[in-house]
Amino acid sequence: MAFADKLEQVKKDFEKDCASCASAKDLEEVKVKYIGRKGLLTGVLRSLSELSVEEKKEIGRKANILKNEFTRKLEELKERVIEAGEKAARVDVTLPGIRRRTGNLHPLTLTMSRINEIFVSMGFRIAEGPEIESEFYNFEALNIPLDHPSRDAFDTFYIEGEYLLRSHTSNVQIRVMQEQQPPVQVIMPGRVYRPDAVDATHSFMFHQVEGLMVDDDIKFSDLKGVLSAFCRSMFGEDIKMRLRPHFFPFTEPSAEVDISCIICGGEGCRVCSGKGWLEIMGAGMVDPTVFEAVGYPRGKYTGFAFGMGVERIAMLLYGIEDIRLFFENDVRFLRQFR
Ligand code: PHE
Repeated sequence: MAFADKLEQVKKDFEKDCASCASAKDLEEVKVKYIGRKGLLTGVLRSLSELSVEEKKEIGRKANILKNEFTRKLEELKERVIEAGEKAARVDVTLPGIRRRTGNLHPLTLTMSRINEIFVSMGFRIAEGPEIESEFYNFEALNIPLDHPSRDAFDTFYIEGEYLLRSHTSNVQIRVMQEQQPPVQVIMPGRVYRPDAVDATHSFMFHQVEGLMVDDDIKFSDLKGVLSAFCRSMFGEDIKMRLRPHFFPFTEPSAEVDISCIICGGEGCRVCSGKGWLEIMGAGMVDPTVFEAVGYPRGKYTGFAFGMGVERIAMLLYGIEDIRLFFENDVRFLRQFR
């Protein structure tokens, strides 16, 4: 091969090698390979001795030009590689940060915690009981006789024999009183079950918070005082509360507790169906039959009990129109309660 062609070949190889260089180290290797002491280009220059003076001059000149070109090219590539490395290592503080996805509490958990908190601040302690319960705790001890309509299989999920899914949290009243003598001052949050057809306001599973206070001399006015303090804390100082006569087998007298509509303030609107009042719980003075069932001495104690639905309260507080939203686990809904 003529020397001119050899040089041409070396140049082509050099360019190919350069193209696959990714680091300063790669470039250094290319440098050694071509223009190092034993490099390819150096080799060509060394072998010029075979040529005539004229040819030596000609090829030598070309080879030197090539050497300069290689050197320049390698420097240039080196600069570029270093620059790229620096760029990659640099932190751009103007870029938006990576937001950490944190979870949040379920609106029912938030509502229940708030209810618990208010009663705990009034000296109540929290107690829990089983969701799978016997007829005794869910019904009998609460003075709900066999022929009471809520004992009907349609109103309760029966499991096997005398076991069922509790239909209210009142079962825990009985368990607490069996365990301790007065003074008793407890709230009892938990899940309850009823075989209701599911719609915007009904669910086969929902939550209640039950309350119980028993001592030597607990009066109806204590019930009213505790509940109105609760309502003011929960719904605001301007809220009004009223008690409407009602019937529960385990309290006597019994009442339903209404608050002035938190949407319209009592004027009458769609949420309160024009009445200006919203029912939020049942309450009353503990029926003596219940004390008897738990073995408290006859005539010694009086007390009050109440029970409220957590879903209903959360729906009013947050303006939620469909109870099913709580249980669908749609994060677009759940994320709103941070
Ligand atoms: N257990 C009743 C219900 O589920 C509520 C209630 C509790 C009423 C305590 C009076 C006293 O409807």
